[in-house]
Amino acid sequence: MIHINEALQQFHLSNGQISYIFHVMKNGQLGHLYAGKALRHREDFTYFQSYENPAPSTTHVFEKDHSFSLETVRQEFPVHGKGDFREAASIIVDEQGEFVSDFVFDSFEVIKGKPKLKGLPATFAEKEKVDTLKITLVDRESSVVADLTYSIFTDLPVLTRSVKVSNNGHQPAKIERLMSTTLDLPDADYEMLHLSGAWGRERHVKVRKLEQGIQSIGSLRGASSHQHNPFLVLQREDTTEHQGEAFGWQLVYSGNFLAQAEVDHYETTRVSMGIQPTGFQWLLQPGESFQAPESVLSYTNEGLNGLSQSLHDLQRKHLINPSWMEKERPVLINNWEATYFDFNEEKLDEFVTEASKLGVELFVLDDGWFGNRNDDTTSLGDWFVDESKLPRGIGELSKSVKAKGLQFGLWFEPEMISPESNLIKKHPDWVIGSLKRANTFGRNQRVLDFANPEVVSYLYERMSSIIEEADLDYIKWDMNRYITEPYAASVENQGEFFHRYITGVYELYDRLTSNYPNVLFESCAGGGGRFDLGMMYYAPQAWTSDDTDAAERLKIQYGTSLGYPLSSMGSHVSAVPNHQTLRSTPLKFRGDVAYFGTFGYELDPSQLQEEEKEEVKDQIRFFTKHRSLIQQGDFYRLKSPFRGLATAWMVVSEDKTKALVGWYQPMNQPNPSAHRILKLKGLNEGFEYKVNGRNNHFGDELMERGLTLPTEFNGANPGAERGGAFQSLVYELERNKAKKMND
Ligand code: DGJ
Repeated sequence: MIHINEALQQFHLSNGQISYIFHVMKNGQLGHLYAGKALRHREDFTYFQSYENPAPSTTHVFEKDHSFSLETVRQEFPVHGKGDFREAASIIVDEQGEFVSDFVFDSFEVIKGKPKLKGLPATFAEKEKVDTLKITLVDRESSVVADLTYSIFTDLPVLTRSVKVSNNGHQPAKIERLMSTTLDLPDADYEMLHLSGAWGRERHVKVRKLEQGIQSIGSLRGASSHQHNPFLVLQREDTTEHQGEAFGWQLVYSGNFLAQAEVDHYETTRVSMGIQPTGFQWLLQPGESFQAPESVLSYTNEGLNGLSQSLHDLQRKHLINPSWMEKERPVLINNWEATYFDFNEEKLDEFVTEASKLGVELFVLDDGWFGNRNDDTTSLGDWFVDESKLPRGIGELSKSVKAKGLQFGLWFEPEMISPESNLIKKHPDWVIGSLKRANTFGRNQRVLDFANPEVVSYLYERMSSIIEEADLDYIKWDMNRYITEPYAASVENQGEFFHRYITGVYELYDRLTSNYPNVLFESCAGGGGRFDLGMMYYAPQAWTSDDTDAAERLKIQYGTSLGYPLSSMGSHVSAVPNHQTLRSTPLKFRGDVAYFGTFGYELDPSQLQEEEKEEVKDQIRFFTKHRSLIQQGDFYRLKSPFRGLATAWMVVSEDKTKALVGWYQPMNQPNPSAHRILKLKGLNEGFEYKVNGRNNHFGDELMERGLTLPTEFNGANPGAERGGAFQSLVYELERNKAKKMND
């Protein structure tokens, strides 16, 4: 998959789906030639780069040679201060304070397979499924070296890149900026799509046209954040869900990040993504190295669904904990919205007994089981069971849950400490914060210094002992406040703090998941504040949002699906009126939305009416019947909640014999059309499908003509079985086995 023309110093990575081409320019730096749909290999692609220099005012590299300017060429690892005035991939400062570096080609190495990234999560694959090209660049003046590592997968239109900087010189150097990816595109006719929002409305789809200047998203919060997600798309203006070109980037990282598109005065676009440079400064002593996180680049000409499907496959096959790649995720019930902090053994016993009758598979005991925690002001850090609530201890509670046929899971918030806790009395120096200034508050809690290995070890000891005592099947790992006053006593250079913090978090995750590979981790950060590939490497699912309102969830889950698979999205049916919006929606609507995720409940089962209990049992039967299709199938977005009244999506099995279609109409309209149809996608044209076990339709009919909506979807229709707002339908499609293709 890697073609190298040594004479011309050109590199072409291609897997038949995408091509990525670059070369060494005449100043020794790397020039970018092409990224996009796969191209036939040829010996020389140099003509893809234009070395003409239109303006007399432009800088030029060589004396009297006005044709070669870093201001106008497309580059692979652009540097700062050498005449390219766009933002650079790296800024490294030497002991004299000089910001300039000049990374030139030194050597390359082709590696079968994909080496691990030390201390960082990253994608992986068997040796025969991925090839790696390592390019070593050197700044000859300082002997600082940059290794760019590109990996291309055989089975996906995906290329990853990571960067390692090593100080091989004799003077210290400071990294001020190090982007994991930079891609210079030859034009700016793109729209930038990103997933942004806030607590309770995470990952809404935002689209804007690129304009000259920098358009960026990022986080300075110590986590990837509710506000912006480390995911960026450039799409053509005519790209839709189903057709057209798009590039998508993701960062395998959970800390502060930056993702930006810079359009210059010649309408070319530079995309950069990496650790957020604000607040970052890494000191490299001679002999030391710094590894930046991995970035993922995917290209499609099959619209946003095509792009998402490649990213979903990458994450499901090459990122998540292998123990969970094939395993079905349990239907869970979480007590948070049912009890909040107010529970005891009797209450939980009734809760679990009722849940087991409904067919739930896993009980998750949320916040409040430890220390003396009856509200959110105390006890974080004191990970010892609260015997006033659970006098028989956590092990006995677990046994009684398991005796009722359910698995058992627990909530932790390992990174936090309450000012009112025993831990803070013992280890006041373990807390992040300014020693000189007043510290900012956030949910009555402070953040532990995860850069300190002693802190990580303490948490490992506490969590592993509870995992063993309670024989845990699942852990919900929460993180409920962002980091302010980022000062940590354990860190020598405070510019390193944020990155050291998140690698400490990874270290704890790594130790726990390596030693307890069968414990299912669900990451959470006040809902979806850390929904990223760094977390997903350890925790294959994440709590998508604290907003459990099904109508709101349409937008949140639709947006999240742009970058992340259904198998990663925690989606639960909760009680009504909903606790976040105070809105009441039918149980059917709530179930129909939650099916498209990991599925579970967030309510008190003993409060359900008898007919609701029967409906819940049916929901669980329905979900478990289709679980592997939902978690492993190809997902298609059909109608966007950001564009109209209705939302629709579907999931199709790999062999196209099964599909599930979700169709939602939160608001009814009067006097609608009598014939509303929904065109399906991804089916086999020639297969005949039974729709809801009844009518038979060929795939081409369903995709070209579409399904017709029943009357209840058509507004205030007197003939309808159901009426009112929050209507939904889920169609089951199954290939009619009696019929053969082309019959
Ligand atoms: C925030 C989470 O998102 C909720 O689901 C719940 O676990 C609370 N924290 C508990 O404090």
